[in-house]
Amino acid sequence: MEVLRVQSIASRTLDTIPSKFIRPESERPDVGRIGRAPQLPVIDLSNPDQESLVQDMAKAAQEWGIFQIINHGIPQQVVEELQRVGKEFFELPQVEKERIARNSASPALEGYGTQLQKDLQGKLSWVDFLFHNIWPPSRINFDKWPKKPASYTASNEEYAKHLQNVVDKLLGTLSLGLGIEEEVLKKSLGGDEFVYLLKINYYPPCPRPDLTLGVVAHTDMSALTVLVPNDVPGLQVCKDDQWFIADYIPNALIVHIGDQIEILSNGKYKSVLHRTTVNKEKARMSWPVFCSPPDECMIGPLPHLTDETNNPPKYKTKSFKDYAYCKLNKLPQ
Ligand code: SIN
Ligand code: FE2
Repeated sequence: MEVLRVQSIASRTLDTIPSKFIRPESERPDVGRIGRAPQLPVIDLSNPDQESLVQDMAKAAQEWGIFQIINHGIPQQVVEELQRVGKEFFELPQVEKERIARNSASPALEGYGTQLQKDLQGKLSWVDFLFHNIWPPSRINFDKWPKKPASYTASNEEYAKHLQNVVDKLLGTLSLGLGIEEEVLKKSLGGDEFVYLLKINYYPPCPRPDLTLGVVAHTDMSALTVLVPNDVPGLQVCKDDQWFIADYIPNALIVHIGDQIEILSNGKYKSVLHRTTVNKEKARMSWPVFCSPPDECMIGPLPHLTDETNNPPKYKTKSFKDYAYCKLNKLPQ
């Protein structure tokens, strides 16, 4: 069955959008009225003063659940290559992209796709995407990686290699911020089995960005998400029940605390509620990497952080697979 991609809809010269993309008024991005965040917290990962690094990151994870990292150690050229090959893939003729399309009848996530099911409001989102794992090697299925451009594989492998150091540093620092040993969060998330799933979001230019959303409000079910944006803004984050437009510093990576770290920390760190808007003239793109425990890993509030009388667990302990099933099917956790 041929699937109509958002990119194809957008390429027709329209001055409006199909009604299935028009959000109910209460959900519209209303860019004119929403505040600009003072600035998402900025964390310098190269800060030699470990104590202040730990404190700053813990504060950002508690108050915002999202922050930008600078001096993260991934060479700029490696990030630019990741962006270049991803952009080239989305600019290929449609038939080329369809070669690695997801099978819409299968629950498998990997491959090129478009959201086919309408959400609870009966609506679709203005985005096409590509999903594939990038780490560990045992979880990689190259059948779902683009063959074009030719340097796609090498560029993505190079990014994954560097990203591991960043993720390890984030988990270590966030552990220390909870007052527990550095390796506890990583161990609790499956250690070396921790899975990195890359998503490339491609939000085509949209004639009516005021009526639709790229991604509706959600929290990530990962443990944490590390995201590379392009230069087109569009991320909005919710803090203290208010939406803010997030600006980012060039070359910073955006770190979202996801549900699994909120649970492990027994709610001390917040999984950030966020959504994205689209742009009238330009394609917005982003490269989030969702870092999640393996399916069978049991996740619940860390015993180090709870006690039955003063600080009882606020979340159930369950496998990541069960958590994901409930989240995707909108069932109570
Ligand atoms: C997402 O939350 O899935 C996408 C975030 C973004 O594009 O900035
Ligand atoms: Fe997200």
